[in-house]
Amino acid sequence: MIRRIGLLCSGGDAPGMNACIRAVVRSAIDAKIEVIGFYNGYEGLIHNTFCMLRSETVSGWSARGGTLLKTARSAAFKTPQGRLKAIQTLQLHNLQGLIILGGDGSFKGAQALLNEHAIAVIGIPCTIDNDLNGTDYTIGFDTALNTAVEAIDRIRDTAESHDRIFLIELMGRDSGQLALHAALSGGAEAILVPELKNDFEQLVARMQNWRSSKSSKIIIVGEGDEHGGALNIANQLKSIFPALEFRVSVLGHIQRGGVPSAIERINAHVLGVYAIKQLLAGQTRIMVGLKNQSPCCIDLSEAVKRKPELNSVLIETFNCISQ
Ligand code: F6P
Repeated sequence: MIRRIGLLCSGGDAPGMNACIRAVVRSAIDAKIEVIGFYNGYEGLIHNTFCMLRSETVSGWSARGGTLLKTARSAAFKTPQGRLKAIQTLQLHNLQGLIILGGDGSFKGAQALLNEHAIAVIGIPCTIDNDLNGTDYTIGFDTALNTAVEAIDRIRDTAESHDRIFLIELMGRDSGQLALHAALSGGAEAILVPELKNDFEQLVARMQNWRSSKSSKIIIVGEGDEHGGALNIANQLKSIFPALEFRVSVLGHIQRGGVPSAIERINAHVLGVYAIKQLLAGQTRIMVGLKNQSPCCIDLSEAVKRKPELNSVLIETFNCISQ
């Protein structure tokens, strides 16, 4: 019988985390389960810093960006000594389950914990990178995408006014999901992402035809692209096309902040409630996710095994309309 569980946010924060916590807490309380929220991710487990999450605690949380429980990338949790302290905390509170809101690093940490301690772990995918296997969507992605597209639209205004070429660098670590989706919806002319090899050569070839044109262009660069970031690429392009005027904009952490979009809040609630349902159904090491808009379960080890591929229809569509 599950009577008490822990919850934590780990890794980079993502808009929608608070909405998801609200859903977990309220559905757990409905099932007569107490929820302890640990601060600063795995650090909170190691140092036993926590608060009781009650229904009224999470009131109004769905519209709040970031994570009100705070998060961290815990170096200590990667060590056996750190995990031992975390396990002692789990035992101290007599926790039968742990809900982890995070990305691949957080779930790898969860796997290490599970090898050393028996507890039910349910992961909920939260990262703006949308880079977890087995789910079409991660909490945070939709809001970050909308933020990036709004920024691209704004940059387009000034780029057009000056006939400049802008390189806009987006987050995503080694995944080009955010960059591809933003490039397509922002009407960019070109994209460089880790998954698409030889794209620099293709870009240069395409730019040969731009040379005479005075109009502005937007090139989206995924931060994990192999050519060394937007600034470096701009310098390389300038040496090939000295007559063109280049500017660089690195959007950075602005993509992680802000109030979650409506879609984000809805999905965050659906996944939070589903996580508790799966815990009660006896699942012990899964990540919940969304496939074709329906909630689903993926083994934790599968979720982090590989990166999902970029959607080929989106690549084809982008290539077709951006020429
Ligand atoms: O994983 C989310 C993410 O925002 C990545 O896109 C980015 O590479 C990384 O986190 C930045 O991490 P930090 O906020 O720790 O610098």
